[in-house]
Amino acid sequence: MLYGRVARLVLLALSTSRVISAPPGFPASGNGLWYTSPGDFDSWSTEWLPIGNGYVAATLPGGTTQETTQLNIESLWSGGPFQDPTYNGGNMLPSQQGAMAQDMQTIRQAIFQSPNGTIDNIEEICTDPGAYGSYSAAGYLLSTINVTGTVSNYYRWLDLDAAVAHTLWTQGSTTFHRESFCSHPAQACVEHINASSSTLPALTYAISVAAQSGLPTPNVTCLDNSTLSLVGLVAVPGMEYEVLARVRTAGNAKVVCTPSAVPGGQTLNATLTVTGASEAWILWVGGTEYDIDAGDSAHGFTFRGPSPHDSLFSLLSSVTTSSTEYSAISAAHVADYQALMSPFELSLGQTPDLSTPTDQLKAAYETNVGNTYVEWLLFNFGRYMLSGSARGALPANLQGKWVQLSSNPWSAGEHDSNINIQMNYWFAEMTNMDVVTPLFDYMEKTWAPRGAETAQILYNISQGWVTHDELQIFGHTGMKLEGNSAQWADYPESAVWMMIHVWDHFDYTNDVSWFRSQGWPLLKGVAQFHMQKLIPDLHFNDSTLVVNPCNSPEQIPITLGCAHSQQLIWQLFNAIEKGFDASGDTDQTFLQEITSLREQMDKGIHIEWKVDMDSPTDTHRHLSHLIGLYPGYAVARFDPSIQGYSGHNYTRDDVLNAAEISLIHRGNGTGPDADAGWEKVWRAVCWAQLGNASEFYTELSYAIERNYASNLFSLYPPLGPDAIFQIDANLGYPAALLNALVQAPDVASTSTTLTITILPALPTNWPSGSITGARIRGGMTLDLEWEAGEPKSVTIRVDQNVQARPVQVVHRGQVVASFSSTSSTTKSVGF
Ligand SMILES: *[C@@H]1O[C@H](CO)[C@@H](O)[C@H](O)[C@H]1NC(C)=O
Ligand SMILES: *[C@@H]1O[C@H](CO)[C@@H](O)[C@H](O)[C@H]1NC(C)=O
Ligand SMILES: *[C@@H]1O[C@H](CO)[C@@H](O)[C@H](O)[C@H]1NC(C)=O
Ligand SMILES: *[C@@H]1O[C@H](CO)[C@@H](O)[C@H](O)[C@H]1NC(C)=O
Ligand SMILES: *[C@@H]1O[C@H](CO)[C@@H](O)[C@H](O)[C@H]1NC(C)=O
Ligand SMILES: *[C@@H]1O[C@H](CO)[C@@H](O)[C@H](O)[C@H]1NC(C)=O
Ligand SMILES: *[C@@H]1O[C@H](CO)[C@@H](O)[C@H](O)[C@H]1NC(C)=O
Ligand SMILES: *[C@@H]1O[C@H](CO)[C@@H](O)[C@H](O)[C@H]1NC(C)=O
Ligand SMILES: *[C@@H]1O[C@H](CO)[C@@H](O)[C@H](O)[C@H]1NC(C)=O
Ligand SMILES: *[C@@H]1O[C@H](CO)[C@@H](O)[C@H](O)[C@H]1NC(C)=O
Ligand SMILES: *[C@@H]1O[C@H](CO)[C@@H](O)[C@H](O)[C@H]1NC(C)=O
Repeated sequence: MLYGRVARLVLLALSTSRVISAPPGFPASGNGLWYTSPGDFDSWSTEWLPIGNGYVAATLPGGTTQETTQLNIESLWSGGPFQDPTYNGGNMLPSQQGAMAQDMQTIRQAIFQSPNGTIDNIEEICTDPGAYGSYSAAGYLLSTINVTGTVSNYYRWLDLDAAVAHTLWTQGSTTFHRESFCSHPAQACVEHINASSSTLPALTYAISVAAQSGLPTPNVTCLDNSTLSLVGLVAVPGMEYEVLARVRTAGNAKVVCTPSAVPGGQTLNATLTVTGASEAWILWVGGTEYDIDAGDSAHGFTFRGPSPHDSLFSLLSSVTTSSTEYSAISAAHVADYQALMSPFELSLGQTPDLSTPTDQLKAAYETNVGNTYVEWLLFNFGRYMLSGSARGALPANLQGKWVQLSSNPWSAGEHDSNINIQMNYWFAEMTNMDVVTPLFDYMEKTWAPRGAETAQILYNISQGWVTHDELQIFGHTGMKLEGNSAQWADYPESAVWMMIHVWDHFDYTNDVSWFRSQGWPLLKGVAQFHMQKLIPDLHFNDSTLVVNPCNSPEQIPITLGCAHSQQLIWQLFNAIEKGFDASGDTDQTFLQEITSLREQMDKGIHIEWKVDMDSPTDTHRHLSHLIGLYPGYAVARFDPSIQGYSGHNYTRDDVLNAAEISLIHRGNGTGPDADAGWEKVWRAVCWAQLGNASEFYTELSYAIERNYASNLFSLYPPLGPDAIFQIDANLGYPAALLNALVQAPDVASTSTTLTITILPALPTNWPSGSITGARIRGGMTLDLEWEAGEPKSVTIRVDQNVQARPVQVVHRGQVVASFSSTSSTTKSVGF
């Protein structure tokens, strides 16, 4: 049945030019990516397709006689204590604490006393990054099938309804079908092959020890007759990693593992061969000796656990017992993925185009003209990528979990944290994806322990913890010195920004037990540090408290009272007050100090810096001072009664107008050292917040035209052969799109009315559509339907056991409903 359509296509191909239509089995909804030729081996970032379960991940070109699957293991990093036993997270030594305290005092004075409020460098408090390392790829799985002849009727596709990648082709008289996925419940990836013939030609499986340049040659051996074991080192010295791959078959198959020495060396390069199978599948698992639970002082910050072998072996055994047939593994994977994704659904009224492959759809896509189907697909693809990269022991990094090289751009850092890691998670709560826990574990286990040392040594602050911009999996909490790098290094607010995510998780889920055990300790640790760090402003002498020194992210001036820092800290202090009752904390003194400091601090309502030095021609990539527009609320919900202070009595309109002017002047995301996808998506989300549908749509569609490849990876720089995959625009995109449809920014206090704005920036290209299951802060879920550009219905369901708060629903500036969010109630609004 499945191949009937292919057979018809074969006949057509012989007579006329081939009629193109989506492959058989492709979702009728259009929810997937499909292509009619394999990805080019040298075009990894633009043509290969990703699969992943968070622990391991892979990309594949969709080869035929040979499939070359790039393998990734989430914790495979060079550097850290595995490379250098004295590695200390890029920090000063404890003995330098006194000198640092002096240096800090000198820097602060110099900034306060500088006539223009800036100084030129702070190198003396930065630290050589030492063994910073890079996230590394783990090699390739090579699957070869002994078949020759011309390939016809080729298709490859990624089914986003099931999270399965497929390749289908005909060779000779046989049609082959390979499918690959990474199962989260099994923590394993699987590649399965079958064909229209009853017996498959001979299959060979090898793990390439040659194709992955930069990694020391690993050993590939036969663990048993059907299992390959790869054991290698990411670098010498460096952590050990292991991949175990086991073949299973149906039919009267023979599986043989052949150990073979690489000519001229000791290294082993074993292969598996399969003959006589009707179908075969190879399951692989991977791990390293990295242990996230060994990153504190009790473990000497070693991050070292046991060899991964035993746990990988039992993992693999559990998914390859005789009772775990392929269909069962596959069904469990699809069920798990759909359970994660299905609570939320979006329609933009799109009509799927099932006759144009995804690469052609992308190539034809134009700014402002748009293509609603492509825009919808990118939304789903963003959610797919987060599902495939966030659910491991570590959070999604700069490339999710997908890298090709042993050393990657920006180390594929877990975590440029002055926008990138944050943007990765912007849409997680609202689209109800249960993927954020590893992000919080990562901060608790790798940021907080070493960050407490940094607080002490660098800032002479004995409470709480601090991190800076560039972080990896070994607790790099110091200021990373690279030239005069204050614009990157001087960012002690990275964890403050992350606290938006921590607070939001509680606000959206109302999960009190999680908040008490993990959320609150994170908030408190970061707040304790920053309450000590704020100091009286001796430059303006306006009786406010400011940060000093500060850099607005990636801007050169080293100054005081950066808008971004002040807004973030103000929001954090609000979160402390809002969360105090639920936290179970009885430390009233702490609460009182926080509220009093909050009162006195500069609220950060400035264009980039407190010192007025903004230039209207600064088209910088970052929009740091608009943090309070999105994802924060210090600007979006500006309240003069609590954010005004001596010398300033702006109204909310003043502040929003200033934000708009500033956004216009920052340009469209093509400035110097710019033209990345993420900055366009960031601009789009801000335009949506300002309720400007046309600017929102221009920027969103501009990002798609300019920064997305034919595999829909987002790229920087755009569209060149050396384009680098950066996942942030893929993951920022769903948030930007959603922000045009429904907004519910946070508020300073739970007694302040929570405003849910529907269709704030609906582009004319999306006249009708619906959202089902959007989470709204305050423990609510929202369904929305619109038609002809107007809302049709809104339904808001309030969870059990939530704290009732005042809510209003707004459309086009009019309040269309006003209620108190009493537990277990439903509010419906018709139009
Ligand atoms: C460092 O902190 C200690 C304890 O709070 C304080 O006594 C000392 O004056 C601080 N040093 C400097 C140089 O600020
Ligand atoms: C600020 O003043 C200092 C010293 O007066 C000078 O070196 C520096 O270039 C000035 N910075 C700016 C941004 O004008
Ligand atoms: C090949 O396997 C896939 C996935 O299990 C299945 O859907 C398909 O029917 C199989 N095809 C044949 C010809 O057995
Ligand atoms: C591959 O196929 C060819 C032709 O059918 C055959 O001669 C050869 O023995 C096969 N190789 C293996 C490893 O099965
Ligand atoms: C190991 O074997 C595979 C498959 O036979 C081959 O592609 C690869 O080049 C071999 N590696 C080395 C280093 O010989
Ligand atoms: C591998 O297969 C051979 C031949 O069937 C058998 O003698 C041997 O015991 C098997 N080894 C393992 C480890 O299963
Ligand atoms: C590979 O095997 C050789 C020979 O047994 C051994 O010396 C080497 O340490 C092994 N390499 C790794 C990474 O385990
Ligand atoms: C601010 O106050 C400090 C301490 O009182 C003083 O030294 C400084 O000159 C004042 N700065 C200005 C610009 O007035
Ligand atoms: C504050 O508002 C008042 C009345 O609107 C106005 O007269 C005054 O100039 C404002 N002050 C500042 C500092 O803008
Ligand atoms: C974006 O800005 C650049 C530089 O000003 C301009 O050349 C380009 O046309 C703009 N693109 C769009 C879609 O507005
Ligand atoms: C959107 O922004 C543009 C550019 O600033 C402006 O011309 C237009 O009037 C704005 N539209 C709305 C609805 O505010």
